[in-house]
Amino acid sequence: MATIQHDLLIIGGGPGGYPAAIRGAQLGLSVGIIEKEAVCGGTCVRVGCIPSKALLESSERLLETQHELAAHGIDVSGVTFDLERMMARKQSVVNDNTKGVEYLLKKNKVARYRGTGTFSAPNHVQALADGAEPLEIEAKHIIIATGSKTAQLRGVEVDGEVIGTSTDALSYEKVPEHLVVIGAGYIGLELGSVWKRLGSKVTVLEYLPRILPGMDSETATEALKIFQKQGLEFRLGAQVLGARREGEGAVIEIKDSEPLHADKVLLSVGRAPNTDGLGADKIGLELDERGRVKVDADFKTNVAGVYAIGDVIAGPMLAHKATEEGIAAVEKIVSGFGHVSYETIPGIVYTHPEIATVGKTEDQLMEAGIEYKKGKFPFSANGRARAIGDTIGQVKVLADKKTDRVLGVHIIGPHAGDLIAEAVAAMNFGASSEDIARTVHAHPTLSEALHEASLGVDGRALHI
Ligand code: NAI
Repeated sequence: MATIQHDLLIIGGGPGGYPAAIRGAQLGLSVGIIEKEAVCGGTCVRVGCIPSKALLESSERLLETQHELAAHGIDVSGVTFDLERMMARKQSVVNDNTKGVEYLLKKNKVARYRGTGTFSAPNHVQALADGAEPLEIEAKHIIIATGSKTAQLRGVEVDGEVIGTSTDALSYEKVPEHLVVIGAGYIGLELGSVWKRLGSKVTVLEYLPRILPGMDSETATEALKIFQKQGLEFRLGAQVLGARREGEGAVIEIKDSEPLHADKVLLSVGRAPNTDGLGADKIGLELDERGRVKVDADFKTNVAGVYAIGDVIAGPMLAHKATEEGIAAVEKIVSGFGHVSYETIPGIVYTHPEIATVGKTEDQLMEAGIEYKKGKFPFSANGRARAIGDTIGQVKVLADKKTDRVLGVHIIGPHAGDLIAEAVAAMNFGASSEDIARTVHAHPTLSEALHEASLGVDGRALHI
């Protein structure tokens, strides 16, 4: 078997791996990328962020057409939907994105290898694909970007049909009458919203006494009320003991409670690092207690020349975090310098309204004993929000009591996921709330809500 040579080899073509490959090529390296699926893009593009956003959009438009257009004086009747076409659109959105990734790799002359990347020696990786001769690739630098997989829960018998993961819930062939979601995190709330809008009864079981753990608790409490109003049912503090098939559906056992029956079960209790088939043992790659690849601040593993980034290492499992790490890792390899602004990684839940957060939560500030000031502004007092008929939610700005430096921003409301970008940029530059307050915000825009919340830190919001 002839050995192929590269300066840089990336294992995994997701939102961590493929931008790292492109950055390596931009910096003049000979780059190869191994991906086990037919197309690059990873969980995010194929079975995660992109298809879920496509379905969220379709289902939101349905709801708007059914219930909100009348208020605009637009009368429609007999609104129906065709799930098959909705799914076909979702798939074409995915296909356009995966094609785009393949095009970019080609344009940047990144060599593309199909198969599972398995270490045979520290600087050697084999690409193993069904029905093909294994390829042996040697590279001075190898970045592991193999991402994550659905975390399992003891007693929950996932069969991919009735009891499944987000991948399955993105492709149900018909609308389940009763969908039980295990876990009120990002996935459970987004996909629970999709199927609720399409007509399912949705029950969300959450182990903790709250939803969205880790997010600002005031914001999460507000979100819970909004989702309940939308008709999602929540059972907080529910400990799932197991779920198994029963006839055409499933039965879910919950501690100290009657069992629940469902047509479909979505298991969304988090994700676990994916080191399957990597041959970690072969090269003595060190993993931590949760199976994540251990790295230092330069993304170096304990094996010389081997690096890791994204969901397979510690930190939030978010596509944009993986992308930034991939780029930083390559830049560190080439120039010795690279940077990820870990303090200001935004998190967004794409429900309606969206929930977006950056920096410290109020809970974290209290726990750390940091004195802070708080400014809040509701979208109900924002002219643009009224004009678009989307007034639910608020912006909250948290700033250091002494220095006024912005420590955290939490938004629940229309386009929160886009609005948060201003707060992220401001915080990256070490802005004070006064800096945002003195920035001219166009009128009438939703961004004025952030402006007003920043003014509110100093008790001088104008429109409330
Ligand atoms: P998650 O970590 O967001 O939420 C999991 C939820 O399950 C938590 O509320 C947790 O308390 C609960 N849970 C854990 N064990 C349980 C049990 N035994 N019974 C009931 N509830 C239990 O995980 P999720 O939603 O599966 O998402 C996985 C990852 O994917 C997350 O890290 C998330 O960041 C990422 N993701 C990001 C999205 C975005 O950026 N919009 C969208 C979807 C996923």
